[in-house]
Amino acid sequence: MSDEYQIAGEYLHLLSEAAWQALRTPVTQALRGAAGDATLVDIGAGSGLGTEVLAATVPDGDVIAVEPSPLLRAVLLSRVAAHPDLRQRVTTLAGDALGVELPGRLGAVLAMNMIGHLDPDGRRTFLRRVAERLVPGAPLVLNLQPPAEPTPVPFTVFGEVQVGRHTYEGGGSAEPSGSAAVTWRMRYRVLDTDGAVLREDHADYRWHVVAPEVLLTEMADAGLTGEIGALDVVRATRRP
Ligand SMILES: C[S@@+](CC[C@H](N)C(=O)[O-])C[C@H]1O[C@@H](n2cnc3c(N)ncnc32)[C@H](O)[C@@H]1O
Repeated sequence: MSDEYQIAGEYLHLLSEAAWQALRTPVTQALRGAAGDATLVDIGAGSGLGTEVLAATVPDGDVIAVEPSPLLRAVLLSRVAAHPDLRQRVTTLAGDALGVELPGRLGAVLAMNMIGHLDPDGRRTFLRRVAERLVPGAPLVLNLQPPAEPTPVPFTVFGEVQVGRHTYEGGGSAEPSGSAAVTWRMRYRVLDTDGAVLREDHADYRWHVVAPEVLLTEMADAGLTGEIGALDVVRATRRP
C-alpha cells in the first residue's frame, strides 16, 4: 500500500504545531453543539493535533481518529497512547474519508487540513456520508486552505522548529494541475546549528481546490448548512 505521507510524515507533526496553536480557539468554537452521547470522529487525523482538541471539547466523548497513512498513524497512535485520557477514549482506524465504516450516529466530525485530498466527487460523497449521520445540532468542522482557484503559489518557507541541535524547516510552492487542482511541491530540510543542510526531502501531492461559495453550495446539496468563520474554519450542521 502506498503512503502519500511517506516523506512528509516525519515532519508533519512538528511543522503543524504552530498552526494548531492558532486553530485551537476557532476549531473549539466551531465544535459547539458536539454531542457527547454519539461518536466523535476526526477524519484524516494526521498526528492527532485536532483529535486532542476534539477530545478536550467533549471531555467524556468516544472518539474515532481515522488516518490512511501508515506512517502518520504510527505518530497518531503513539501520541494517543502516551496520554492517559486519550488512550482510554480514542480509537485509531486505518481508513479514509470515503471507505471507513462510520457509526450511524455522529456527535461531531472534524476534517481539518484534509478536504483538498478529495476530488469534487469524493468531496460531495464525503459531505453526504457525514450529513446522513450527524445528530441534530452536531457540527462538521473543516477548513478551507488557499489557493481557492488553481493558481500558482510561489515558494515560501512555512515554518522552522528546533529540536535538539537540529532545525526542521518546511516550505513549498504550488502549480496548477488541471481545472480544479494544484500540485504542491514541498521541501523539508534538517539544518545543523551552523545552518548547514544535513538532509533535504521533497514531496509532491495533488490538492483539489474549492472556492468558499462552491463548498457552501455542495454542503447545502448534501443537506448541511455551512458557515465560514475565523481562519477559514467551516462549521456545518444538518438542516432541520
Ligand atoms: C495536512 S494533513 C492534516 C492532518 C490533521 N488533520 C491536522 O490538521 O493536523 C492531511 C491528512 O489527511 C489525510 N488524508 C489524505 N487523504 C485522505 C482521505 N482520502 N481520507 C481521509 N484522510 C486523508 C492524510 O493522511 C493526512 O493525515
